[in-house]
Amino acid sequence: MSTILVTGGAGYIGSHACKALAEAGHTPVTFDNLETGWRDAVKFGPFAQGDLLDRARLDEVFAEFQPDAVMHFAALSQVGESMSHPGKYWRNNVAGSLNLIEAAVAAGCKNFVFSSTCATYGDQDNVVLDENSAQYPINAYGASKRAIEDILRDFEASDGLRHVIFRYFNVAGADPDAEVGEFHQPETHLIPLMLDAIDGKRDALTIFGTDYDTPDGTCIRDYVHVCDLVDAHVLGLDWLAHGKESRVFNLGTGSGFSVREVIDHSREVTNREVPFTEGPRRAGDCTKLVSGSTRAEAELGWKPTRSTLKQMITDAWRWHQSGHYDG
Ligand code: UFG
Repeated sequence: MSTILVTGGAGYIGSHACKALAEAGHTPVTFDNLETGWRDAVKFGPFAQGDLLDRARLDEVFAEFQPDAVMHFAALSQVGESMSHPGKYWRNNVAGSLNLIEAAVAAGCKNFVFSSTCATYGDQDNVVLDENSAQYPINAYGASKRAIEDILRDFEASDGLRHVIFRYFNVAGADPDAEVGEFHQPETHLIPLMLDAIDGKRDALTIFGTDYDTPDGTCIRDYVHVCDLVDAHVLGLDWLAHGKESRVFNLGTGSGFSVREVIDHSREVTNREVPFTEGPRRAGDCTKLVSGSTRAEAELGWKPTRSTLKQMITDAWRWHQSGHYDG
């Protein structure tokens, strides 16, 4: 039973994490500036509005709630935008996280769970991506997350900040109860855009690049269900609570699907046509990102139960049709 400061708790992954934390008996305190998050997604614990770049506000929130741990989701996360506006990513993600880490350490809160990404690995042809793989990000988003990983290691050495770093592959799906789900404004992610195109809320989906060196020419990603992903975070907290060493875990399934395969699955799940066109590559996209690690299963005892592509699209489609979503 502990109090967890959840930065980005009003966002897609953060709101699912708050639900999982509350179900596990913890109190999730959402810290969010509501720039990309939604006030009505904060349903499972207290809300403190604030910006990571505002250190005084962070100090106030640490003093008021005295959290036992931080779960840090708040970040800008669009690969394409990070290529055109890198400064936003270095300022918000890196400078913001540094503020948060310094505020946590100053408040004596030294358990930290961090949301990192497989985008830190970059484009490494034919390399099995596990936690020991080299990190060569090819976009500013991945570079900003790698920098935060480095900051955490430095603060462990200087101040004993214990941490678990999760490197996510592609997060998809929604809460099966449709209490929370994915809603970005603007939306840039493949599955929600595809579902919008299917039910006529948007124009046809554009496939970004059909000339990649993959069997069908489109990019390959490893999709993981948001509920499975946040379950790993609760296990990560337990890991720290048991005094275990700081650790990095990939969160993916080890199975990769191309954009065309995701389209095929969406057609099957929704029983509707997927309107799409073929366009040029998007800057910053890697050819293939698939996890090659089972460390989270072996060490944390993580057991993904909903991470088949069919289940993820089914849950995302239910959320889409729930009436909460207004794409
Ligand atoms: N794609 C399209 N058309 C679209 C949108 C996406 O073809 O309209 C393609 C992309 O080119 C990519 C795949 O679908 O090949 C997935 O794209 P997303 O935008 O859904 O996801 P990304 O892989 O770009 O990025 C996501 C998260 C990042 C994370 C990354 C790791 O947004 O935070 O996964 O791969 F780091």
